[in-house]
Amino acid sequence: MNPYGEMIQEHSRHPRNYGSLEAPDIRHEDENPLCGDRVRIELSLAGDGTVSAARFQGDLCMIAKAAGSLLTEMITGLALDRVGEIAEGQVIDALRTEIKPSRRKCALLPLEVLQSGVNAYRQSRRTK
Ligand code: FES
Repeated sequence: MNPYGEMIQEHSRHPRNYGSLEAPDIRHEDENPLCGDRVRIELSLAGDGTVSAARFQGDLCMIAKAAGSLLTEMITGLALDRVGEIAEGQVIDALRTEIKPSRRKCALLPLEVLQSGVNAYRQSRRTK
């Protein structure tokens, strides 16, 4: 019995880009306040500002792990400005299954942490 659909099953069992980077340009970690699950997202940037590598790691439920896997695939090779524009609906669509309102926070946790990390990085560059 598979309550979440093939995509979530596959990406939670075999998450892509799971782990950490040696010296990431962006590293951000936070938790889902509803359950306490944590995720850390790391990005390395190429000289032209595109994402050359993305990793995620954390103590996560199936939906959040699949979302982290799909999200890191989605952003690899993207310009940082485009990463900042990724909408919640894009992540929900990528999961290809109905996400109940009570699990929406799980699906969006990696995106929220990613966007906070990107914003903090931009802020730090502005103040230098
Ligand atoms: Fe915690 Fe899904 S139950 S992120």
